[in-house]
Amino acid sequence: MVMNFMSSSESCDQLYARRQDKIDSFVFDERVAAVFADMISRSVPGYASIIGMIAILARKHAVAHSNLYDLGCSLGTATVSMGRGIAERGCQLIAVDNSQAMLEKAGEQFSRHGLPSVTTICNDIRNVKICNASVAVLNFTLQFLPVEERLPLLKNIHAGMLDEGVLILSEKIAGSDAAEDRSLMELHHAFKRANGYSDLEISQKRAALEEVLVPETIAVHRQRLAKAGFSRVDLWFQCFNFVSFVARP
Ligand SMILES: C[S@@+](CC[C@H](N)C(=O)[O-])C[C@H]1O[C@@H](n2cnc3c(N)ncnc32)[C@H](O)[C@@H]1O
Repeated sequence: MVMNFMSSSESCDQLYARRQDKIDSFVFDERVAAVFADMISRSVPGYASIIGMIAILARKHAVAHSNLYDLGCSLGTATVSMGRGIAERGCQLIAVDNSQAMLEKAGEQFSRHGLPSVTTICNDIRNVKICNASVAVLNFTLQFLPVEERLPLLKNIHAGMLDEGVLILSEKIAGSDAAEDRSLMELHHAFKRANGYSDLEISQKRAALEEVLVPETIAVHRQRLAKAGFSRVDLWFQCFNFVSFVARP
C-alpha cells in the first residue's frame, strides 16, 4: 500500500508488537533508527508524496550558493530529496538532528546517494543559527518540541531566511473540534491497520507518543507562523491528520 524507503539491510518495525507492562516515552534511539524507514512509511499517510514534492519545492526555490536546511532530518530522506532537486547550483545541504543513531544512518544514506558533501550537525535544532537559507524543512519535527519552544525556533528560521526562501513545515495535526479530531484519528488508525499494524501496536505506540508528540490545529500553526514573521502560508498537502505548509518570509 505504501512506498517504502527501506534499504535491503533495514528492518521491519515491530517495536510495539509485543504487549509491554509499562510503556516508556518514545525516543529516537538506536532501536527506532534501525526500523525508522519502515515505521514512517507505514505510519504517516502521504510520506512518500511529501518527500517527492520536497524535491520539486527545492528545485523551484533554491537560490544559488545558499543553504538548504533539513531540521530533524532523521535518516536524511528529505535532504536526499532536496539534493535531487538542486544539482549544480552550489548550494550547501545542512542536515540537523539530535539523535546520533539517526545521523549515523543519514550519513550512510548520503554516501549511497552520492551526496558526501552534506553537512551533518548533531545538535538540538534550537541551538543552530540559520543563515543564508533559501529552503528550510521541518518535516514532522516541530511537533516534538515543547509548545512554548516552537515560536522561538520559527523566529530563528525566519530571521535566517532569504527573501525568496521557503519554509516547508509538515506536521501531524489536531482536528479543529472533538468530532473532527476523532474522525481524522480513526482514519489514521485505519491507514496503520491497512499497513499491517495490529490494534495492540497502534495503542502502545500511541501511549509512548503521549506528551512527546503534541499536535496542534491548522489555525494554531497559521497564527504562529504569522507571529514568527512569515507573510504568506499555503497548505499544500493534507491526508487525514497529516499536513504540510509552505511559508514565505
Ligand atoms: C519524525 S522524525 C522526522 C522525520 C524526517 N524529517 C523525515 O522526513 O524522514 C523527528 C526527528 O526529529 C528529531 N528531533 C526531535 N527533536 C529535536 C530537536 N530538538 N533537535 C534536533 N532534532 C530533533 C528526532 O531525533 C527525529 O529524528
